Amino acid sequence: MRDIIQQLDEKRAAARVGGGQRRVSVQHGKGKLSARERVELLFDEGSFEEWDMYVEHRCEDFGMGDQRVPGDGVVTGYGTINGRPMFVFSQDFTVFGGSLSESHAKKILKVMEKAVQVGAPVIGLNDSGGARIQEGVSSLAGYADVFLQNVLASGVVPQVSMVMGPCAGGAVYSPAMTDFIFMVKDTSYMFVTGPDVVKTVTHENVSQEELGGGLTHASKSGVADAAFANDVEALLQLRRFMDFLPLSNREKPPAIPCSDSPEREEMSLDTLIPDNPNTPYDMKELILKVVDEADFFEIGSLWAGNIIIGLARMEGQTVGIVANQPMVLAGCLDINSSRKAARFVRFCDCFNIPIVTFVDVPGFLPGIDQEHNAIIKNGAKLLFAYAEATVPKVTVITRKAYGGAYDVMSSKHIRGDVNFAWPTAEIAVMGAKGAVEIIFRQDIGDHQKITSRTKEYEKRFANPFKAANLGFIDDVIMPHGTRRRICRSLSMLRSKEVKNPWKKHDNIPL
Ligand code: HXC
Repeated sequence: MRDIIQQLDEKRAAARVGGGQRRVSVQHGKGKLSARERVELLFDEGSFEEWDMYVEHRCEDFGMGDQRVPGDGVVTGYGTINGRPMFVFSQDFTVFGGSLSESHAKKILKVMEKAVQVGAPVIGLNDSGGARIQEGVSSLAGYADVFLQNVLASGVVPQVSMVMGPCAGGAVYSPAMTDFIFMVKDTSYMFVTGPDVVKTVTHENVSQEELGGGLTHASKSGVADAAFANDVEALLQLRRFMDFLPLSNREKPPAIPCSDSPEREEMSLDTLIPDNPNTPYDMKELILKVVDEADFFEIGSLWAGNIIIGLARMEGQTVGIVANQPMVLAGCLDINSSRKAARFVRFCDCFNIPIVTFVDVPGFLPGIDQEHNAIIKNGAKLLFAYAEATVPKVTVITRKAYGGAYDVMSSKHIRGDVNFAWPTAEIAVMGAKGAVEIIFRQDIGDHQKITSRTKEYEKRFANPFKAANLGFIDDVIMPHGTRRRICRSLSMLRSKEVKNPWKKHDNIPL
């Protein structure tokens, strides 16, 4: 018996070294942790249960019969993050460059399928040279099986990708179909075709980092939701992020004990809005002052900064925050900000996370570039996402809510449950000056007339009371009481039930 136990110990030890100490050292030399070190850091100490440690590939071609490594380049299983179960696959670059074989794919599929059955998130730690070249089409089939499972799991359990090394070619499409993609600066990249192919086809010279590094995707393409400084920071932030998420679509959003009083008032908010309506202010200040303990996990902070999205808590319970940012492009909606917020609103709706929206929007961004790149279809994404969402929706208009953008930003008309406005709100088709120049075009040369007409328009619409008079705003609230009013609304809405008409699925303008 002792011998057998010792043999098991030896087998485990052999599997744990992956591609061997030399390759682990190379990995460390690049500033990267090994696949197992990453899993250990991600999960609560001692909670990781590994599966399929002895699985090997079945390829005999190109001398592969003599090269079998237990685990076949991916560490899979489940563990806990702050006591809550999560599944993981962590690709091991030290084994055939983390490349995906038929067996490697089957290991990933096993954890994904179980995650859907039990209702727990799937975290992918991607670090792979792509399809296992020696296996040819079997490897492509493995990828397709993973893609299909990504789609089937979408909206059922949260799927989060942390790209921590190469991710190229068709392999990028598995992370692309997950709910969030995070990357590590300088050591990870994602692209469909690499710099060499780009050079051959388009004659453009570009480095890996510039083409598809973490910072590029977090700031230029919006593919990555954040880029972290290194593996350790990435995994610690991932733990923090997962704490906000429900385990599946069957669950209410998680709640944790909260010591921040829902009654807390913030007097400084009474002076947040500048006297000049064209002077920007930082919407993040409002968010941080309203949410529990100023704890806000911002998503996509480096891209489409004219809209802020992220997760926070109110009275201990997770909420999704969507807010126009007057500091960037005056907070207007454009193609990227609409796409960014639409996907997030849909994520929140999938997973029963209430949405709190702060509005200061002067409208959609004008321009040939915007029109020719389909602001119509892209703006419609956000409108569609808000309109179809059945989770509790609380909206606060702080200043401008102009034109179609007023309707889009979780207005009463598209089923905002509780819609508040600050006394500084201006709810109108457009700003007074623009409106008067259109309605009273014949008076444009007459400065006195235009000034008095502008004042008249401002009096009527540059305030929240016309909208409140029509019942489109439930109350005009004191800025300092914003937290209390939102907390009460969310508490009232906890038992909300709304069902959309039966359909196979909707047809959001993609
Ligand atoms: C098999 C692979 C591999 C792969 C790397 N290796 N990629 N083995 N299949 N796809 C092996 C290497 O042979 C090497 O083995 C070890 O992993 C480490 O690789 P290095 O090249 O030494 O590492 P590095 O210099 O860091 O370069 C990493 C790399 C490079 C840039 C990822 O390895 C590379 O270009 N690999 C090929 C990438 C590729 O073309 N993949 C297929 C893409 S098409 P030894 O034994 O020497 O240590 C694709 C399609 C997916 O993925 C389609 C889905 C639908």
